[in-house]
Amino acid sequence: MEKTFLMVKPDGVQRNVVGEIVARFEKKGFQLVGAKLMSIPRELAEEHYGEHKERPFFGELVDFITSGPVFAMVWQGENVIATARQMMGTTNPKDAAPGTIRGDFGLTVGKNIIHGSDSPASAEREIGIFFKEEELAEYTKLI
Ligand code: CMP
Repeated sequence: MEKTFLMVKPDGVQRNVVGEIVARFEKKGFQLVGAKLMSIPRELAEEHYGEHKERPFFGELVDFITSGPVFAMVWQGENVIATARQMMGTTNPKDAAPGTIRGDFGLTVGKNIIHGSDSPASAEREIGIFFKEEELAEYTKLI
């Protein structure tokens, strides 16, 4: 079953939209297999955003993601990586369509409410950075 890593960023947690974001993915039909509210240590943030290391906004990005608690999640379901990104909307909330998470809740590219893995390789890497195997639930068939 395909899995993805999603994270409500500090702006989303502080604006109390965690529940609404979780509800959107639940209602879509995806299954939550891991979740935790956590403060990200700086080294972990630098590892997570390693591909952006050379970007001018890297320092700002790491400062922001470590500025308050985030809600880290693993979700599973068919095509969850691409579908979750559609549900999130474009990276810059100013271009994100209404009805998407960033379109409805975000204003600026730096504070864009949510992060989601962009490929199967990123999903595997990011899940491994944030979660231990034993923190992920296994669903058995309901009887
Ligand atoms: P995310 O999907 O978490 O992945 C990388 C993040 O970099 C992205 O969301 C944005 O929040 C952030 N980002 C992209 N461009 C800029 C920018 N120009 N200034 C600050 N942050 C940015």
